[in-house]
Amino acid sequence: MENFTWECRTKVRFGNDCVKEHLAGFVKEYAAAGQNILLGYGGGSVKNNGSYDDVMTVLKDLGYRIADADEAEKAGEKCIVEFTGIMSNPTLAKMLEGAGLARKSRAGLIIAIGGGSVMDCCKAVSVQAGYEGDAWQDFWMEGRPMSHDVLPCGVVVTMPATGSEVNGCAVLTNEETKIKCDRDYAEVNPVFALMDPAYTLTMPLRQLRAGTFDILSHIMETYFSRPVEGNPADDTSEGLMRGLIRDFRAALADPQDIQARSNIMWCASLAENRIIKTGKSKDFQAHNMEHQLSAYTNCNHGEGLAVLHPVYYRHIYRDGLGKFVSFAGNVWRLDRSAYADDEAFALAGIDALADFIKEAGLPSTLRELGFGEAEKAMLPEIAESCFISGGAFRPLDSAEILAIYNECW
Ligand code: NZQ
Ligand code: ZN
Repeated sequence: MENFTWECRTKVRFGNDCVKEHLAGFVKEYAAAGQNILLGYGGGSVKNNGSYDDVMTVLKDLGYRIADADEAEKAGEKCIVEFTGIMSNPTLAKMLEGAGLARKSRAGLIIAIGGGSVMDCCKAVSVQAGYEGDAWQDFWMEGRPMSHDVLPCGVVVTMPATGSEVNGCAVLTNEETKIKCDRDYAEVNPVFALMDPAYTLTMPLRQLRAGTFDILSHIMETYFSRPVEGNPADDTSEGLMRGLIRDFRAALADPQDIQARSNIMWCASLAENRIIKTGKSKDFQAHNMEHQLSAYTNCNHGEGLAVLHPVYYRHIYRDGLGKFVSFAGNVWRLDRSAYADDEAFALAGIDALADFIKEAGLPSTLRELGFGEAEKAMLPEIAESCFISGGAFRPLDSAEILAIYNECW
C-alpha cells in the first residue's frame, strides 16, 4: 500500500436526541466567552425535521438570542446570527456572503444544520472569515498550506450523503469561472458532528436515492484505485458496499425504516472520514466529471454520479482488472465459474452496478438527468474543463471524457 497519514479531529455524537444531549457542551467548549454564533442552513427543510427547533432550544437555554449582524456586533450579550438560503451546490458568492456575516457579527463558532451543501458552505466560511486573502484562489485553486486560524465549525446533519461532517472538504462552485472544486484540509474538519437519524426521515425519496448513491460512489472511487492487491482499506470498503446496498434496498422498500436509515447515515461518514482511503491512490475521476456537469448545469450530484459510473468503469476496467474482479465476486456475489474469463466477470460486476442503479430508480442517462439539446451542446466545453485525477488506474484526457459523456447521453 502507499504511505499515508490519517487523522480525523471531528468529535461525533450519533443517535436519538444527540443534539439535546450534547450541543450545549460543545457550544461551551468552542464558543469563547462573548463570541456570537453564526447559524447556517438551507431552504427551510430544517424547520420541518426537528433539527432547527432542537438547536434553538439548546442555544436559548444557554442564553443566546437571535439578532442581525449589526445588532450582534454591538450587543454585549450572546447572539445567534442566521445565515440562511444556502443552496444545493453552494456558490463562492454565497460563501463570501457568509464570511462577511461571520466577521461583522464577531462569530466565534459556526453551526451548520443540513446536508452537504450547507455543511460545505459553512466550512468554507470558517476558512474565509479569518483570512485576509482570497481563500478560493489560495486554497481551492492553488492548494496552499493553511496556517491561519480557521473558525470552529460544528455540524448537525440532516441528510446523509457527502460525509462532509467528518472530512475537510468544502465543495464550492465559482459561477464566474464555472469551476466546481474541492480540496481536503485536516484544518477544515468540523469540530463536532451531531447525527440524529430521525432528522433524515423527512428527506424526499429523490434525495434519499441520490444521497445514498453518492455514498456508494465515494467508496467505489476509493476502492477502484491502486493498489489492486488485497489490503485492509479495500476489505473494509467491500463490507461497507455490501451493507450499503442492503440498507439502500431496505430504505427504498420502507423509507421509515430507522435501522436502515441509521446504517446509511453512519456509512456515509465511514466512507468519507478518510479511513478507507488509507494506503490508496484514490481516483475520484467520476466526481471530477460530475462536478463540472454540475458547474455548468446545476444538476444533482448523486444523480450525475449514477449516470457516469458504469460508463466510466467500462472504459477503465482493464487497467485495474483485479479490483473489478473482486468487485464482481465480493460485492455482488457473482459466481466466477459462470464466466469465460476475468474480463467477462469484471464486466458482469459493472452490469450488476448498472442494474442496481435502475432498480433504485436513479437516472442512467444524461437525458434522464434532465439534459436537453442546450446541455448537449455544452458537453465539449465541459469535458475540457474537467480536472484529471492522478489516482486513477489510467488518467483520462478530455477527448475520452467527452466520449464518456456522449455514451451517457
Ligand atoms: O435546502 P434545504 O431546505 O436544507 O433542503 C435540502 C436540499 O434541497 C434537502 N434536505 C436536506 N436534508 C433534508 C432535506 N429535505 C428534507 N428533509 C431533510 N432531512 O435536500 C436537498 C439537497 O441537499 P444538499 O445538501 O444539496 O445535498 P447533499 O448532501 O447531497 O450535498 C450536495 C453537495 O455536496 C457536495 C456536492 O458536490 C454538492 O455540492 N459534495 C461534498 C463533498 C464533501 N464535502 O466531502 C463530497 C461530495 O462528493 C460532494 O461533491
Ligand atoms: Zn460525492
